Amino acid sequence: MTEEQRRQNRIKIDYTNMTDKYLKEKGYSAEALESLRALSEQAYGYVSGNRGKDELYMGWTELPYNQKEIVADILKTAKSVREKFENFVVLGIGGSALGPTMAFNALCHLHYNDLPKEKRGGPRFFVEDNVDPVRMRDLLDVIDVKKTCFNVISKSGATSETMTQYLIIADLLKKAGEDIKEHVIFTTDGAKGNLVKISKELGGVKSYVLPDGVGGRFSELCPVGLLPAAVLGVDIEALLEGAAYMDELCKEKDFRKNPALLCAVLQFAAMKDGKNIGVLMPYSDNLRYVSDWYAQLWAESLGKNVTLDGKPCNVGQTPVKALGVTDQHSQVQLYTEGPFDKVVTFLSVEKYAAAFPIPHGCENIPDVSFLGGHTMEELIRAENKATAYALTRAGRLNYTITLPEVNAFTLGQLLFLFEMQTAYAGAMLNIDTFNQPGVEAGKKATFALLGKPGYAEQKKELDNAASDSDYVL
Ligand code: PA5
Repeated sequence: MTEEQRRQNRIKIDYTNMTDKYLKEKGYSAEALESLRALSEQAYGYVSGNRGKDELYMGWTELPYNQKEIVADILKTAKSVREKFENFVVLGIGGSALGPTMAFNALCHLHYNDLPKEKRGGPRFFVEDNVDPVRMRDLLDVIDVKKTCFNVISKSGATSETMTQYLIIADLLKKAGEDIKEHVIFTTDGAKGNLVKISKELGGVKSYVLPDGVGGRFSELCPVGLLPAAVLGVDIEALLEGAAYMDELCKEKDFRKNPALLCAVLQFAAMKDGKNIGVLMPYSDNLRYVSDWYAQLWAESLGKNVTLDGKPCNVGQTPVKALGVTDQHSQVQLYTEGPFDKVVTFLSVEKYAAAFPIPHGCENIPDVSFLGGHTMEELIRAENKATAYALTRAGRLNYTITLPEVNAFTLGQLLFLFEMQTAYAGAMLNIDTFNQPGVEAGKKATFALLGKPGYAEQKKELDNAASDSDYVL
C-alpha cells in the first residue's frame, strides 16, 4: 500500500460530543481533559516501556512485525484447507473464538455460508464457542466430519468447553474411520498444554503457536485469528499492515495526537465521572461482532479488584453491544433519557461495500415517497448522524470512530486501536490489564463439579452451596 493509500484508509476519531462545546456542563472542558495529561503520559510510558514483554503478557504489541515466516506458513496451510475441505470449524471459546467470528463477519459476505461454493472460494465456516448440546447436534446435522477441518484453539488445552468439543469430534472422526490428525489443526501453547501432548499421541498434528506473551483476548492478530481468516481468503498481510499503521499513529505521547491514548483518556474521564457503561454501536452489519470482541477485551482487561501495588479496588466499565440502526428501535430510548451512566462509541463507515438506490414509489403517500431517490447508504449515515445529534442534545457523552471503508487494513487498525486503548486505560487505572483471575475461578469450579482429580475440596464446598429451598419459587 502506498503512503497515500494508507492515509486515505486512516480511521478517524471525532470526540466533539465528549466536550463542553455542545454538551455544555455534561461534556468535558479542555481543562478537565488536560488534568489527565500527566496520568496519560505515565500510562503511555508504561505501555511503551513494556512493549513486547512476554512476562507481562505484552507480546501482542509486536505481532504486526514478527510473524513473517508464520504468515507464509499459514497461507500455505490455508490454501490446502481451501482445496481439501468443505467446512472449517473453529473450536474455541473467549479470545479463541470472538476474534475469528469478528473477522469473518467483517470481511466476508454476510451470508457467506449460503453462497454457492464457486462464489465462496473457500470452505463453509463455523465458530463453535459453546457447549450447548443443541448447538453441537445442529452443527453435526449440517457438516460431514469427513469433509471438515477442525481448528482447535486453546492455549491451555485444558478449557472444559473446547476440550469437550474436541473429544466429541475426535470420537466421531475415529468412528468414521478417519485419521484424526488429517482433520485437525491445533493453535496452542508452544511447549506445554494438553494439545501438545495430544498432538504427540496422534503422531504429529499440524500446530500453530499461541505465543507466550499473548493472552486470549489479545490474540486475533496471531495464528488464532490469522489462520481462520486466511482460510476465508482474507488478506491477512493487510490486516497486520493496518495494525502496524495504527501502532505508528500511536507513537505520540500527547493524547491529543495519539488515537488510542485519546480514547483511553476519554473513557477514563467518563469512568471517573460515573459512566459505568460503555456502549459500542457500529453502524454496519459487518462490524457487528467487533462489539462482542471488544466487550471481552474491555471487560476482562479492566474489571479488576486490586491495583498493581496491591490496594483493593473495584474498577472497570460494563461494555454494552448495540447495532445501528437496529438498536435505535430498542435501546436508544434508554441511552437518551435513562440514567447518565453511559458513554456511547459509534463506529461509522464512510463508504459501504454495496450501494442501493431507493426507488421512487408510493407517490401518493408522502410519508414514504420522500425516501425515493436517496440511497440506503445515505439513510444509514443520516440515522447515525441523527442518533449522535439526539444523544448530544440530551447531554449524553458520545464519540465516533470512522472507518473510510471496512477492509482488512482498516479492521487491522481498529483492532490495534482498541488493544492499545485497553492497555493505556488499564495503566491509567493502575491495574493488571492482562490477567483474568475471575475467569480462572469459574473454570476451576467447573473442574470440581465434574470430578476432575485434585479439586475434591472445592467440590465439597460447591455441593454445600446448593440453593436453599426457602428462596426457590
Ligand atoms: O482472554 C482469555 O484469556 C480467555 O478468554 C481465554 O481465551 C479463554 O478462557 C480460553 O482459554 P484457552 O485458550 O486456554 O482455552
